[in-house]
Amino acid sequence: MSDITNEINRRRTFAIISHPDAGKTTLTEKFLLYGGAINTAGSVKGKANSKYAVSDWMDIEKERGISVTSSVMQFEYDNYCINILDTPGHEDFSEDTYRTLMAADSAVMVIDASKGVEAQTIKLFKVCTLRHIPIFTFINKMDREAMDTFDLLDDIENVLGIRTCPINWPIGSGKAFKGVYDRESKIVSTFQAISSGGAKSAIETDLSIDDNELRNIVDDMQYEKLTEEIELLDGASDELDMEKVSKGELSPVFFGSALNNFGIENFLKYFLKMTTSPLPRQSSEGLIDPKSEDFSAFVFKIQANMNKNHRDRIAFMRICSGKFDASKDVYHVQSKRKLKLSQPQQLMASSRKVVDEAYAGDVIGVFDPALFSIGDTICASGKKFEYEGIPTFAPEHFARLVQLDSMKRKQFMKGVNEIAQEGAIQLFQDYQLGMSEIIAGVVGVLQFDVLKYRLENEYGCDVRLEPLPYGYIRWVKDTSLDLNTLKRLNDVKKVKDMKENPLLLFTNEWIINMVLDNNEGLELLEFKK
Ligand code: G4P
Repeated sequence: MSDITNEINRRRTFAIISHPDAGKTTLTEKFLLYGGAINTAGSVKGKANSKYAVSDWMDIEKERGISVTSSVMQFEYDNYCINILDTPGHEDFSEDTYRTLMAADSAVMVIDASKGVEAQTIKLFKVCTLRHIPIFTFINKMDREAMDTFDLLDDIENVLGIRTCPINWPIGSGKAFKGVYDRESKIVSTFQAISSGGAKSAIETDLSIDDNELRNIVDDMQYEKLTEEIELLDGASDELDMEKVSKGELSPVFFGSALNNFGIENFLKYFLKMTTSPLPRQSSEGLIDPKSEDFSAFVFKIQANMNKNHRDRIAFMRICSGKFDASKDVYHVQSKRKLKLSQPQQLMASSRKVVDEAYAGDVIGVFDPALFSIGDTICASGKKFEYEGIPTFAPEHFARLVQLDSMKRKQFMKGVNEIAQEGAIQLFQDYQLGMSEIIAGVVGVLQFDVLKYRLENEYGCDVRLEPLPYGYIRWVKDTSLDLNTLKRLNDVKKVKDMKENPLLLFTNEWIINMVLDNNEGLELLEFKK
């Protein structure tokens, strides 16, 4: 096997998705601890006045104790080279989150055992199903009172529409949590919480289900319940069909407690075995094999001013095939230019390391002289295919952007355009007034705060954001149509995007239908590719 094939085979690139507070950061941290990438717990995310925040780049994140921008972390474990793509875990999220999922080969979904599937998980999950990538479920916080285990599985199946296959099974929860039973090996990993100096961890002992010693830990009632449940499961649950797992139709489910470091290493081991090495990707020339010798990558995220000391712009690209060699020229398909990628870096959260080589599955950040756009393809010199574009997700919140200091028009326009180019916001202009009324559209409202903060801090422009009542956006299919000829647009806002395409903003779906009913032949589109 060639070195390249070897390197690519051992790559695993995945995203962790969860509702805020389900335990994504804690789980990530435990993974990194196993990989030796960090040596103290608490270093992935620092909440207010706590430790150094590895995954937080912007001050606003630190202030709020949340991670706004998605980061990438690489570590080695058991001869695997693992790339975790971190997705923001707060209520609001931006298109960045969606795009990050476009760069992952599989997803780990963390669910709080006491809450089941929560709103944010549903949205993120839908993007995963769009791409048919494998989804693994980790049901966390078993040391707290949990929902009934079968109800939890039903919840995943009914709300998310994916089948489940428990790989292990919990014995009790909360104070009565005694461990998990591994269905394949028939071994129980027992759980005994210990608390030492504030840091929680658990004593984990492996015992066979028939071992007498187990009966000292698990009382008769629990033991009986376990044997009944196992019987029920073996008879009724879905079999572990890896074909279905690989298509994202069946999710292997694991139980544990990230905070107590219980069930984590076991999960990691199973996960790494079951998940896939970098997948082929669709391009204008068909599927591209990740193991082909030729380098190719696509840009899934652009971030300006990550480091205030270097006012730079970084384009994050996911390598899709071959090996990246910093000394070789590459071809940027969209600009038709041959170039060397400048200062290629790999990111371990906030620390950067310049890399000379990287392989399919890895993510590198390169210095971007305002050349790249999201979705762009970079190939080995001599190749010219394009990867499928990343869809534009429809913004759901809109606000008028009012610039407070009219002297700073130039900086203001530079700021909003650059931030829009990164994909953090989408920009629109009033249909009649044009750029004298600028409207920003976002997927999650927190992006408005980020926009305001960045315009003030990075571009020195004070702005006021006036929220608009619209929540639905539709592109008008016939781009030459004069929107002023349309009827019944009383509560509808007419706008144009930056490419002068006409659009309509609506407050609810009922009005969309009403407008369609009153304007024969009008065709509206939900997405613009
Ligand atoms: P997130 O990234 O998904 O938002 O969740 P995070 O890991 O920050 O965890 C949210 C809270 O849940 C944290 O408590 C964390 O300690 C706790 N937690 C995570 N895993 C477990 C678990 O297995 N059992 C229990 N009981 N708690 C868990 P916090 O008080 O909000 O923050 P902190 O002060 O502990 O950092």
